Amino acid sequence: MKKGLFITFEGLEGCGKTTQAKMLFDFLIKQKIPSIYTKEPGGTKIGDKIRKILLDQKNDGMDYKTEMLLFLASRAENVRLIILPALEEGKIVISDRFYDSTTAYQGCGRGIDLEIIKNLNSLVVGKAIPDLTFILDIDPYEGLKRSASFGNSSEMRFEEEFINKKIIRGKLFLERVRQGYYQLSQEESGRIKTIDANRSKEDIFEEIVKIVKRKIRNSI
Ligand SMILES: Nc1ncnc2c1ncn2[C@@H]1O[C@H](COP(=O)(O)OP(=O)(O)OP(=O)(O)O)[C@@H](O)[C@H]1O
Ligand SMILES: [Mg+2]
Repeated sequence: MKKGLFITFEGLEGCGKTTQAKMLFDFLIKQKIPSIYTKEPGGTKIGDKIRKILLDQKNDGMDYKTEMLLFLASRAENVRLIILPALEEGKIVISDRFYDSTTAYQGCGRGIDLEIIKNLNSLVVGKAIPDLTFILDIDPYEGLKRSASFGNSSEMRFEEEFINKKIIRGKLFLERVRQGYYQLSQEESGRIKTIDANRSKEDIFEEIVKIVKRKIRNSI
């Protein structure tokens, strides 16, 4: 049975997911609350290999269905090996991206049927449904500017596509993704909290911690 708390971070590239997820992880560990940090794609032996395939710029032009299935395959491993065991031990699990990314990017962004995505997501995650999700909302250009000045150059396939190759389509693409996140937050307002990410790291974190503390209190 699931006993822990599952928190996910979502949003466009450069919105600050990794920054905030790691700040939250450090905060919880300092409070001596057993917690783990995991990320998508990756986080397991197979998942890390899949991450390399997905983010490698040499794989430009990958079929959208291949891309989606690779993300899902990485997620399946992460759920089985990392997320569910930690939740069963009562830990707080923080995931840097999770299944809302598939809905927003491959569904609303790439145009793959949302019903198919819903079924595949459900198949892959099983009981590992997030209790709380933060969408860090940012203008696509602001996010891209942040992530372009940072990052591992061999893992920039998506940024490369959005910034250099198809800047016009790239902008439209990310706007559809942003809209997808917005729709999700409307449909699941209990689980999903949209945070204005166009502020200082500290201000954003303060808001996140308040919400997490409330959630922990209510779930005891
Ligand atoms: N609130 C903020 N204001 C300004 N810069 C920020 C803020 N939050 C994060 N950054 C910086 O922006 C860059 C991208 O942040 P981060 O890696 O956390 O984003 P991300 O959402 O994880 O991006 P990606 O989708 O590429 O993994 C980093 O250099 C980070 O230090
Ligand atoms: Mg990140």
